[in-house]
Amino acid sequence: MEKSSIVIAGGGSTFTPGIVLMLLDNLDRFPIRQIKFYDNLEERQKQIADACEIIIHEKDPDISVLATTDPEEAFTDVDFVMAHIRVGLYAMREKDEKIPLKYGVVGQETCGPGGIAYGMRSIGGVIELVDYMERYSPDAWMLNYSNPAAIVAEATRRLRPDAKIINICDMPIGIEDRMAKAAGLKSRKEMVIRYYGLNHFGWWTDIRDKEGNDLMPKIREHVKEHGYLTDAEMESSQHGDESWMQTFSKAKEVYALDPDTMPNTYLKYYLYPQDEVAHTNPEYTRANQVMAGREKEIFSECNQITANGTAKNMGLEIDEHASYIVDLARAIKLNTHERMLLIVENNGAVKNIDPTAMVEVPCIVGVNGPEPLVMGEIPQFQKGLIEQQVSVEKLVVEAWIEGSYQKLWQALTLSRIVPNAKVAKQLLDDLYEVNKEFWPTLN
Ligand code: NAD
Ligand code: G6P
Ligand code: MN
Repeated sequence: MEKSSIVIAGGGSTFTPGIVLMLLDNLDRFPIRQIKFYDNLEERQKQIADACEIIIHEKDPDISVLATTDPEEAFTDVDFVMAHIRVGLYAMREKDEKIPLKYGVVGQETCGPGGIAYGMRSIGGVIELVDYMERYSPDAWMLNYSNPAAIVAEATRRLRPDAKIINICDMPIGIEDRMAKAAGLKSRKEMVIRYYGLNHFGWWTDIRDKEGNDLMPKIREHVKEHGYLTDAEMESSQHGDESWMQTFSKAKEVYALDPDTMPNTYLKYYLYPQDEVAHTNPEYTRANQVMAGREKEIFSECNQITANGTAKNMGLEIDEHASYIVDLARAIKLNTHERMLLIVENNGAVKNIDPTAMVEVPCIVGVNGPEPLVMGEIPQFQKGLIEQQVSVEKLVVEAWIEGSYQKLWQALTLSRIVPNAKVAKQLLDDLYEVNKEFWPTLN
């Protein structure tokens, strides 16, 4: 098997060590000759990359390692760009969450006004990465999970339609792990699913085992009672905090709206926004939890590894469910034709919605990238919700391209999470004020 060269863009991310450990755990399935780290913040990346270099070389001294803030060095001679940047860092996520809450509106990383503000920051950063890849490694593929993935995907569709970029999300994977547990299976990989929607905005319609037996009745029984909460064993790693437990539990109420399908957890922000606001502390949001939790822990573990000069007895854990990234890279490299849920241009996969929407549907993945499967016609309830949300995402991208204040106001007004045009305007003015450094100028 030919060995791959990878650059992790957003090398200073809290997810980088977990992904590196996961890559190292999968070398037999996906051999690697080089791992590079690229970030635009040298100091932040250095802390992560120094530790990762020790970890990598203790596992395989032959893998070459390089951390750089120079795009040419980073993007030359790579097969895959694994991208997870956060433009504006956690400091800006905190603002995305807290500003809406001042108006009694949900403040969330990827949904509603917070997600729109984040989208306006991310588009430029991700387009820049695409351009570096195309300039220095034109045959490479970018596997992007930088958020908000829905808006980023629409932006690359509009601005770089021929780019080899695939957008992917780990939320369905985390949920499918829980469904598999509820159905008494060992792994989500024993399931074959049908799903449609947008990123952080979709529904499962069919879940079967490999023999074709319908698992929905069993999963339904579980979700009706417990949402996606399962046993203690699951409640660890990535989606392990108390706030995630609330989310998995809330899925029960989201499910109740349409018991024929299984919902993505993120729908709770659109369908029960007041409940969300009611139990959120506007002074201490998810960004604060992550800064005090994951970010602090990962950086202190990495600094410890570097100080010790060894990763023996380290406290870092493999990000198991990030193995979907290896599955995706492998599917392209080895032409495995694995079935994976990806964010792709609709083109009729969901028959009765906009063919240019970026939808999340199962795809068959091989050397040519993803081939979407047809999910057919969807019910009126989901169609209505999706069309509204697609319009929000498209308007954000148009606002970014044209520098249009008007379109961004329309986008905010159209979001289900925002109560009316007046609040939308106040939110827009407040968010614009703190995002001047990151957003295009609006006219
Ligand atoms: P983080 O802030 O810890 O890391 C992001 C890194 O990106 C930082 O080191 C930052 O300096 C760097 N960066 C920012 N702008 C950049 C640019 N223009 N060029 C190069 N580097 C840049 O964030 P995190 O919590 O680790 O998350 C990283 C990203 O992954 C976020 O966008 C997050 O939403 C996303 N994420 C997505 C999924 C998914 O399901 N798609 C899952 C988990 C995380
Ligand atoms: C899920 C989503 C990601 C999102 C993350 C936030 O994994 O799929 O898109 O970034 O949750 O998690 P956090 O722990 O940072 O709140
Ligand atoms: Mn996601």
